[in-house]
Amino acid sequence: MTHILALNGSPRRNGNTETVLNAFLDGAKEAGASVETIRLSALSFKNCLGCNACHKKGVCILKDDLTEVFEKVMACDILVLASPIYSMTVTAEMKGFIDRGQFLWAQKFKTQTLVFDEKHLETHIGVFLSTSGQALPVMFDAAFPVVRALFNDAGFSYTENVLFAGMDVHGGVKSWPESVDEAFTRGKEIAQRLINEP
Ligand SMILES: Cc1cc2nc3c(=O)[nH]c(=O)nc-3n(C[C@H](O)[C@H](O)[C@H](O)COP(=O)(O)O)c2cc1C
Repeated sequence: MTHILALNGSPRRNGNTETVLNAFLDGAKEAGASVETIRLSALSFKNCLGCNACHKKGVCILKDDLTEVFEKVMACDILVLASPIYSMTVTAEMKGFIDRGQFLWAQKFKTQTLVFDEKHLETHIGVFLSTSGQALPVMFDAAFPVVRALFNDAGFSYTENVLFAGMDVHGGVKSWPESVDEAFTRGKEIAQRLINEP
């Protein structure tokens, strides 16, 4: 069964990001996928120390709630990184998670113990789901390379953006039901595509 792991970097319960993320996952469930969501703000974890210990053995010396999260990241088929835009990029929670993925980069390029073949990359999809206050599409530009860094290191083809710009002008997600409908449709369509993959 196609399994989706969604990491929610929004600290706000039932906010814009969580609402469209839930709709996206409902769509994916309707297509037949199994889903799990983890709220990063509910976890206890440290930021990367920059000690570079992972360069030697490919292992992070920090052991906390993110240790298990990374095991789940490496076991899922579709990884959704969901975050509102804070100060032009992802939230601190999401950036903290992404920085902690440095041990995967080390496994690829330092210890050379992590290799993803073409089949793996075809069947592992990275989705960036985001909301912004301002209606300008450029609001997401600084976040794209940040999430790409994690998707690349963890072996996901980053092919999907599910973006809702302009929550402020719409008065928030509750006054913008079309955003919820679109998130549902995109979740269903993306999951379906992977499920139908030969
Ligand atoms: C600290 C902070 C920084 C923000 N920075 C931006 C920004 O740079 N650009 C923008 O368009 N919206 C910005 N916003 C608005 C949020 O991106 C927007 O309201 C989003 O939909 C909130 O999602 P949430 O309900 O999941 O928290 C910011 C909001 C906060 C709280």
